[in-house]
Amino acid sequence: MPTVGTVTYERPAWLLPGPPGWVDAACDHLDAIVLDHAHCEKKAASTALGYLFRYPKETRIVHAMSRLAREELVHFERVLGVLADRGQRFERQKPSAYGAELFRAIRTGPREKLVDELLTGALIEARSCERFGQLASRVTDATLRALYGELGPSEARHTTLYLDLARSVEDPAQVEDRLSTLAAHEAATLFAPAELRLHAGGGPT
Ligand SMILES: [Fe+2]
Ligand SMILES: [Fe+2]
Repeated sequence: MPTVGTVTYERPAWLLPGPPGWVDAACDHLDAIVLDHAHCEKKAASTALGYLFRYPKETRIVHAMSRLAREELVHFERVLGVLADRGQRFERQKPSAYGAELFRAIRTGPREKLVDELLTGALIEARSCERFGQLASRVTDATLRALYGELGPSEARHTTLYLDLARSVEDPAQVEDRLSTLAAHEAATLFAPAELRLHAGGGPT
């Protein structure tokens, strides 16, 4: 179990293992990983904002997502700073199919869609957290270790937030059931051949 400072990352039981080769590949291509990380934080903020547009009557979700969007933008700016320190530019990067593949599994009924979107958010946050932990245990660069050590606990908290929100709109037993289905889909996605990203690649080619 990787530990950075006082932070220990533990993969939740429902999050299935990804390809074991990912962390080696990621450490060999840190420029691509850090750039993708910036895009992921930007996307996390944008996803949180999307709830304000789609679910304006869900007061608890609106407040939580407004706070989350602000926090993810702070993360985005933090990663922009790391990019600058590394002499890298923030630039376009071909997105991985990971997010689109996860959102493809979302059901269409109004409540089902909301529950699945929240659970997908939990899965993405949990996988980010796991991968920050893997990176933190391997990278020697002090700036990156500090970054992952700082952001990992936030993403773990976001995982809990998404799960709690899902349990607030649907029967918790049904949420658990749906979480295992979506978690299996998420893990299968990670094993598809893909360009290396924070949430993709490192599997069989
Ligand atoms: Fe974040
Ligand atoms: Fe997050």
